[in-house]
Amino acid sequence: MLKAGDEMELLDIIKARRSVRNYTGARVANEHIDKILEAGRWAPSGLNNQPWRFAVVKKEETKREIANATKYSSVVLGADVLVAVFLDRSVMYDRTKDVQAIGACIQNMLLEAHSLGLGACWLGQILANRDKVEKLLSASPNLELMAVIAIGHPTSASQTSRRKGLDELVFLWEEA
Ligand SMILES: Cc1cc2nc3c(=O)[nH]c(=O)nc-3n(C[C@H](O)[C@H](O)[C@H](O)COP(=O)(O)O)c2cc1C
Repeated sequence: MLKAGDEMELLDIIKARRSVRNYTGARVANEHIDKILEAGRWAPSGLNNQPWRFAVVKKEETKREIANATKYSSVVLGADVLVAVFLDRSVMYDRTKDVQAIGACIQNMLLEAHSLGLGACWLGQILANRDKVEKLLSASPNLELMAVIAIGHPTSASQTSRRKGLDELVFLWEEA
């Protein structure tokens, strides 16, 4: 269990993570890819059905083909490794909850990448060409592409980002 003191540290990690779209070109160690996938694997899922499946892409040729499927081609081409995340429809029990679980899985992976000093970006626009990517990765028919995560060593210090204030987000806060 996390102690109360550890909680702040996790919040700091969550707040410092940014979408990183520029990479140095240095290799990402397999050991780090393993850790990122491991973080994804330990995400929560409804009924613990673990509906996520992964394809790890490193070959330049495959990256080029994937780049052709998105307007974020420069992110795909610059990344050292891509992790394509799929929903396994054969274990699906409730589409909304299964997709939510995939989101948790992806966020875990982004946070792990960040904590390893790597930069990562969740690419969703590529879903406009979902069929094309599924085909070129030879995904079985039960696998539905949910996102591609681009990962590499970041070129520069992270950018800033903004979030709505809690005053805009919390519409009810009852005290006992
Ligand atoms: C579902 C989803 C889809 C996204 N798709 C893309 C994308 O296609 N291309 C991209 O550059 N960023 C994409 N992003 C990253 C967002 O633009 C980014 O998370 C947001 O602007 C907040 O910035 P931050 O991640 O640096 O805090 C996506 C994020 C999510 C959660």
